[in-house]
Amino acid sequence: MSNEFEGDALASRFPTGFTWGAATSSYQVEGSTEADGRGLSIWDAFVNEPGRVVDGSNGDTAIDSYRNIAGDVAAIKALGLNSYRFSLSWPRICPDGDGRVNAKGLAYYSDLVDALLAEGITPWITLYHWDLPQALEDAGGWPERATATRFGEFASIAHRALGDRVKHWITVNEPWCAAFLGYSSGEHAPGRREPAASIAAAHHLMLAHGLASRAIKAADPEATVSIGLNFYPIHAASEAPVDLDAARRVDGVQNRWFTEAALRGAYPEDVVEDFKAITDFSFILDGDLETIHAPVDVLSVNYYSRFTVTGNGGATSASAAPTGAGSAWPANEHIGFVPAGLPVTDMGWEIEPAGLTEMLTRLHAGYPDVALAVTENGAAFPDKLEDGRVHDPERLDYVQGHLAACADAVEAGVPLVGYFAWSLADNFEWAWGYTKRFGLVYVDFETGERTVKDSGRWYGDLVRRARSNR
Ligand code: NOJ
Repeated sequence: MSNEFEGDALASRFPTGFTWGAATSSYQVEGSTEADGRGLSIWDAFVNEPGRVVDGSNGDTAIDSYRNIAGDVAAIKALGLNSYRFSLSWPRICPDGDGRVNAKGLAYYSDLVDALLAEGITPWITLYHWDLPQALEDAGGWPERATATRFGEFASIAHRALGDRVKHWITVNEPWCAAFLGYSSGEHAPGRREPAASIAAAHHLMLAHGLASRAIKAADPEATVSIGLNFYPIHAASEAPVDLDAARRVDGVQNRWFTEAALRGAYPEDVVEDFKAITDFSFILDGDLETIHAPVDVLSVNYYSRFTVTGNGGATSASAAPTGAGSAWPANEHIGFVPAGLPVTDMGWEIEPAGLTEMLTRLHAGYPDVALAVTENGAAFPDKLEDGRVHDPERLDYVQGHLAACADAVEAGVPLVGYFAWSLADNFEWAWGYTKRFGLVYVDFETGERTVKDSGRWYGDLVRRARSNR
């Protein structure tokens, strides 16, 4: 879309007051993991275990955001964005995961918020983006109920310090990943392979969401509260009953388990039945679902791809799944992921913009009272800096295609309030280390130097058109 007319045409399809942003998370960008009294997180421990991160790297430096507020704000400004989504490092603020507050850690976020607001950039804060204080993991981690209680306290601490200036709060990011990659497949920290415990972890992450949402709303009824979920439309590989059942199961664990609990206050019965094979649910106490059914003003949608599944696991293609199939969907190890023949990103994830429209319209049909925001969408490609430029036509196409898919959803009546590209800048991609680049801004990981990629220039241009149209 180099063509100006087409840029204007796409820009004009978005509503006035639309939120245009980019996203990051604390462990992926901050570095300075030992600075100013920060405690350790489960990721600090995990990255030190041999074989956990493909390039043996860690977040000790990352892209140095902790020491470079000005650089981050400059990048957001260069793109012309009106919002920035970032997360708070829980152990930076509460080093031991309890009520002891590290004032210097809080000061970093307070300074970042001030710097953003001074430039007219609205902060969207994620409270939990996977960096659990190691002290809480030592006490059992998310499979323990006390972790959720602690998180409710942390939400109050964070809101008390920042709530005068921050109105947008995402409680938990992608509890599916935190629970099932962290405690079932073990691909993410803390690297445990305990399927039954992972379901308790998923429940406590939802309880944590409920407690945090209630704490924030009690302190500021005007705050916008959200939960961030990673959604994938799930298609069956064929009409065979075994494939249709596989699609139901994966859709259940991936998409319905979390939305139904948060927005309807009940876990889907069919998934409960499936999970009974490995847990007795004794961790669910009376009143938990009521707590979880807490205010959600905006449902945060993270979208990357669509899956085609089969019940005959023999066809499993790990590359078509987010990070490897099987035990990331506990009690569904027989299920396989089948490539649909679409082009893929550097993660091996199939590119399907129509899947985003499909997901947004489905969510709106199911939960008509909640606004939606795309809080993550983006693609990894192996970028190269050449003569001061990064030409990334594939990412540009990806972002353009998915924004057109968002516009389609808006025109179909979906109350979509914002779009955040993942990510503002290249960063630490979890178990993939620094080998996968998702940024709109290229980062030289040796020198820290940053260069806006062609996709970032294009996105910035679109945002400027959209914002100046009104
Ligand atoms: C999901 C996560 O929220 C984010 O941390 C990650 O980097 C992206 N997706 C890409 O995998």
